Amino acid sequence: MERSPVRDATAADLAAVAAVYEHEALHGIATFDAEGRTEDFWAQKLGGPLLVAEVAGSVAGFAYASTYRPRPAYDRTREVSVYLAADARGQGVGRALYAELLDRLRTGGVHTALAVIALPNEASVRLHESFGFVHRGTIREVGWKFGHWIDTGFWQVTL
Ligand SMILES: CC(C)(COP(=O)(O)OP(=O)(O)OC[C@H]1O[C@@H](n2cnc3c(N)ncnc32)[C@H](O)[C@@H]1OP(=O)(O)O)[C@@H](O)C(=O)NCCC(=O)NCCS
Repeated sequence: MERSPVRDATAADLAAVAAVYEHEALHGIATFDAEGRTEDFWAQKLGGPLLVAEVAGSVAGFAYASTYRPRPAYDRTREVSVYLAADARGQGVGRALYAELLDRLRTGGVHTALAVIALPNEASVRLHESFGFVHRGTIREVGWKFGHWIDTGFWQVTL
């Protein structure tokens, strides 16, 4: 399949980014938020980087990097996340976003990327492992959503 165009998000994309995330917050376990976040919240992520992928001219998903922990020894570590609209999954869009995101981080001097994956999430685990992420452990029953406990796994790649 043709690679989806991936680019830096702009202010004009924030409504679409917020809508993709809200859908997952309301219907999925990939985020432990129970509702969406405001466009202002996503505006804070611009340049972090916050990347969007387009399919047929519309934003089909996004990926971003954020501070893992604020203390200075963590400065060259980032936590990465990716969310796609339900109808854009399983077509390589996640792969296109991560290829660009991880490249940007590597070029920018980031040493370690971390992903925290609520389990089970086979698509996410496969996506991360295909980029060299390694499972470093799972913490049991830390999230309660939709009436059951959820584990989270930590995956890490050295860039
Ligand atoms: C997880 C997610 C980002 C993956 O992106 P995607 O574009 O759907 O995945 P891709 O098409 O790039 O495929 C990536 C890998 O996952 C596999 N995969 C995709 N969908 C799958 C599914 N439903 N079940 C199992 N494996 C799947 C692909 O075969 C591919 O594996 P490979 O590298 O061994 O070939 C996307 O499905 C999504 O947004 N899900 C909801 C939000 C979420 O879970 N975000 C991650 C938070 S940690």
